Order: sequence, then structure tokens, then C-alpha cells
Amino acid sequence: MAEAKRRHVPVLSQDVVQYLAVRKGGTYLDCTLGFAGHASQIARLLGAEGHLIGFDRDPQALELAREKLAELAVELGAEMPRVTLVGEAFSKAAELVAPESLDGMLADFGVSSMQIDQAERGFSFMADGPLDMRQDTRQGVTAEQVVNEMDERDLANLIYEYGEERRSWRIARAIVRARPITTTGQLARVVAGSAPAMKGDRIHPATRTFQAIRIHVNRELAEIEALLRAAPKLLKPHGRLVVISFHSLEDRIAKDALRDDAAKGIWTVLTRKPAVATEAEMDENPRSRSAKLRAAERLGPEGAAAGKQAEFARLDGPRAGFGSSKHAAKAGRKKK
Ligand SMILES: C[S@@+](CC[C@H](N)C(=O)[O-])C[C@H]1O[C@@H](n2cnc3c(N)ncnc32)[C@H](O)[C@@H]1O
Repeated sequence: MAEAKRRHVPVLSQDVVQYLAVRKGGTYLDCTLGFAGHASQIARLLGAEGHLIGFDRDPQALELAREKLAELAVELGAEMPRVTLVGEAFSKAAELVAPESLDGMLADFGVSSMQIDQAERGFSFMADGPLDMRQDTRQGVTAEQVVNEMDERDLANLIYEYGEERRSWRIARAIVRARPITTTGQLARVVAGSAPAMKGDRIHPATRTFQAIRIHVNRELAEIEALLRAAPKLLKPHGRLVVISFHSLEDRIAKDALRDDAAKGIWTVLTRKPAVATEAEMDENPRSRSAKLRAAERLGPEGAAAGKQAEFARLDGPRAGFGSSKHAAKAGRKKK
């Protein structure tokens, strides 16, 4: 654990701070505390009047974040903001956080290095461990149950859809034949044996299958969809949302949700293209290689009015372009 502490580097930290535009004395939600890297950055900017709310569904991560923030409290003294930690999935934020109470919210999706590095959590094919993969170790099905109990066709579909793996049928068949599979090493060998690395592959042949099972076990995409639905309700007008995704399935959900809601006058999208890491950050922190950050600002009532006009314009037909997100963006900026 001390190892995990030392090694943690929050991704795209400068962009996070820039896009969140943390307001001293404000209330901010970090949906994915992890090792509280981003949360600590936010806390430093909030001051004594501020409030930091943090979610993590992994009890071990929550404890680490608590320790890290306690150390920060010693360092900041009277300047430390109020902190509320919640050991729940961020899809529960809609129930647990007051509507229109947030100045900003951040979600840094995916798995933490602490989870990957601990073989006993079962996320990694690089080390041999039990097939678990649950972030919330208190509930839900394990990867072992999925691998050993799921019907072959469903398993193939899952690996295809969440792993974007073209050889999913072959892999699913090999898994079913090799049952029971109980460790990450055994699963990695079965996958690699049925669908070996191809010329030019830069990733381990089991990468996509592991990703698919992990996404399923943790309901990752449904979690993101729920969060993106809740965000406009939880943010104050002009509150900011920053999301960091690590693969195309996550990023597509974020991109589409922000674009669609911008067309309705809910958001101004602040990142026409996602922010990505510099070469220097990629060298220092390999996890940042696939990171894509998207940010948006919730519009005030004037933005919603522009969105309504946009809907009418769309229904009218030829003037459909009138209410584009660009228009909404202008409306949002005017009154700021
Ligand atoms: C990539 S790490 C976050 C790292 C963090 N930003 C930092 O700087 O230390 C992701 C964390 O979010 C948590 N997490 C992922 N999905 C979650 C969800 N749906 N609800 C709550 N926590 C989640 C994971 O358990 C993990 O600890």
C-alpha cells in the first residue's frame, strides 16, 4: 500500500484544475476519489469555507483517500475545507447530493493503479491472482462467476461489445472448454492460447477480454450514463463538469451525452476536442496515454431558453442549425 501511495500521479491534473475553474469557498464533488490525487488539488484551492465531497465504491480506496486527506488537513490547517467522504457508487450521487448544490464535479473513470497493482484484486493478467475484478468488494458478481457461469454466446457477445475484440467467439469457446478457471493467470493463458497476439499488436492478447469482463462486473458504462444524466441536476448554473475516460466506449458515452445536452441548452461544451496528455506526461505516467478529458459548463436559465428555441427550430425544419451548441454557448457566456 505504501508503494501505491508513492507511485500515484493524477492524470491531466493541470487540465482538471483549468477546466474545473475551482472557486474558493465552493462545493465540489470528486466522483472517483481513488488515491485523492485530484481531490487534494481541489481541496488546496477551496479554502476553509469550501466543501469537498468524494465518492469511491472501493472501501480500500476510500480508506486511502481518507488518510491522504487527513495528511493534507495537517498541512493546510485552518485552510482545509470541509470534507465528506461517501463509500458508494457515483450513480448514487443523484440520491445523495442535493440538487443544484455543486460548483463543479470531476470523474476520472476506470481502475486505479492501486487496484491493478494488487494481484489479489484480480484486475491484472500481469500477476496471478483470484478472478475478482470488483471495485466494490462488498457486493456484486465476481469475474470468476462470469467466466465460469455465463453462457458461451453471452460471453462472446460481452467480449465483443465491451472488449471490442473481433475474435470473441473463439475466446468464449476456449474459456468454456477450460472451465473451471479460477485465476487471472489461467484466464490470460486460455485467452492468449485461443487468440494469440497478431503481427503489429502492441497490447497483450488478453487485454481486451480482461477489459470486457471488468466493465461488465462493475457495470461501468451504466454508471457513467447515470452520472451524466444526474450531473446537470446536481450542478448550479455555470457549474462545471470534467470527465476523464480511458477507452473509446467511455469516451463515446461522454461525448454523445454532452453534445446532445448542449443541443438542448443544458451545457456549453468547453472542449471541442478532448484534452489529452503531453508527451512528457505520457512518459512520466503511462496511464495518461489513453486519457481523454472532456469538460462542460451548465448553462443558466438563458441557456435553457436558447435550447427550447433550438428544439422548436428543429421541429420547424430548415432553420435546424439555429440552436446548435455554438449558439447555446454564446447564450451561456453572455450573462456570466
Ligand atoms: C482512476 S481512479 C481515480 C484516481 C483519482 N482521480 C486520483 O487522482 O487519485 C478511479 C477510482 O474511482 C473508483 N470508481 C470507479 N468507478 C466508480 C463508480 N462507479 N462509483 C464510485 N467509484 C468508482 C475506483 O474504485 C477508483 O478508486
